[in-house]
Amino acid sequence: MQVLLRIRRYNPELRDKPWWGEYSLDNVAPHDTVLELLHRVKWTMDGSLSLRRSCAHGVCGSDAMRINGANALACKMLVSRLAKPGQQSLKIQVEPILGLPVLKDLIVDMEPFMEHYRSVLPYFINDSPAPANGRERLQSPEDRAIFDDTTKCILCAACTTSCPSFWANDKYVGPAAIVQAHRFIFDSRDEGAAQRLEVVGDTFGVWKCRTVFNCTNACPREIEITRAIGEVKHALTTKS
Ligand code: SF4
Ligand code: F3S
Ligand code: FES
Repeated sequence: MQVLLRIRRYNPELRDKPWWGEYSLDNVAPHDTVLELLHRVKWTMDGSLSLRRSCAHGVCGSDAMRINGANALACKMLVSRLAKPGQQSLKIQVEPILGLPVLKDLIVDMEPFMEHYRSVLPYFINDSPAPANGRERLQSPEDRAIFDDTTKCILCAACTTSCPSFWANDKYVGPAAIVQAHRFIFDSRDEGAAQRLEVVGDTFGVWKCRTVFNCTNACPREIEITRAIGEVKHALTTKS
């Protein structure tokens, strides 16, 4: 298959504005990933292309980008998912995720995203004495199941940067941070729910979510994000 890969390029040391780079690739297989195509460009055509990636297997969360207009991990996006059956030539457009400052090409500044993440206290809080005899704090399988889905987040930012509420106002804490808050608010061993609910119940917290569902569609871990946000909203009206 022949692929024309259009990549949104930006290098503030060369030009003030972004531009489109176009790269023609032949012998592309349906099972190739978009990350593999980007590597072909970087390693054989233009070494100045900049992107983040690490694991290449959907685990590290570092290569979220906008592929044909929708957020996805480049390493999980197969060419076959972008082509119609039997199609022999294909255009694929790749851009950086939206709503975060672009540093170079496909690399964005993740710090505003991480700031929202830190704001929800994404760690276990429990100052009560530990159980005697060095035992663990026990939890029933039923209690663990309540937040199982939100433990799967890999902090790729595909959700937050596909959310129109976040595009409109980057003070919105965003779906990824709420997923992290959910993971601890509903953990029966944790004692920090009140602090976290205060953060996500604030002006720029969960009420900025308008139930658009882009976040849920974008999540490579298939986390039911909009549902988790709904559960946090419900907790705010019942727990606080
Ligand atoms: Fe990525 Fe999903 Fe976590 Fe959002 S919730 S940061 S889309 S893994
Ligand atoms: Fe945004 Fe997801 Fe809510 S896309 S508006 S956080 S449901
Ligand atoms: Fe690690 Fe894609 S490179 S998730």
